[in-house]
Amino acid sequence: MHRRPEVSRFLIWVPRDREDAVAKLRKVARMRRIDERNGALRLAVVERATGAVVGDVNIEIISRRDLEAEMGWVLHPDHQGRGYATEAAAELLRLGFEELGLHRVMAACEARNLPSARVMQRLGMRQEAHFRERENVRGEWWDTLFYGILASEWRGAR
Ligand SMILES: CC(C)(COP(=O)(O)OP(=O)(O)OC[C@H]1O[C@@H](n2cnc3c(N)ncnc32)[C@H](O)[C@@H]1OP(=O)(O)O)[C@@H](O)C(=O)NCCC(=O)NCCS
Repeated sequence: MHRRPEVSRFLIWVPRDREDAVAKLRKVARMRRIDERNGALRLAVVERATGAVVGDVNIEIISRRDLEAEMGWVLHPDHQGRGYATEAAAELLRLGFEELGLHRVMAACEARNLPSARVMQRLGMRQEAHFRERENVRGEWWDTLFYGILASEWRGAR
């Protein structure tokens, strides 16, 4: 997953070799709790039938005062197109709103990253902004779409 160029096309990291991927995974594997002390949680997405790790999802508190978090997701290309990212991220929303008492959760993607935007739409998130040429990545200007959902909206949709 970390090696495939199509995975990081719209991410700021570049394809990683095995050594770099192992180093990265060692680091993120420590992000197992989200509480007063730990502001970010990273979970492996595991296919129930096979036990295979097919990707990961993360949630990070970006403001404790405002009770706001940001989510992200990556799937191995062989396991895309089956609803796994949406299913895993929906659980992050439940965790954020029901257990962490968040007020708002946001997510962002490069404007051409339509599969990621569709994950946000399926989660019931609203597009809140389209920032033009907000980032310069690898010599290319990237637009950013911002999506958000409030606790009240999430509860209302259930
Ligand atoms: C973003 C990313 C995780 C989306 O993956 P995805 O597989 O399209 O998303 P999901 O796992 O939620 O699957 C939903 C797709 O599966 C389809 N699907 C097929 N069977 C399904 C099922 N049983 N249940 C739900 N969806 C199903 C859906 O129709 C949808 O396809 P569509 O968007 O073409 O309509 C993936 O493209 C990725 O890893 N990209 C590279 C990393 C990246 O850019 N991450 C985001 C950074 S902002």
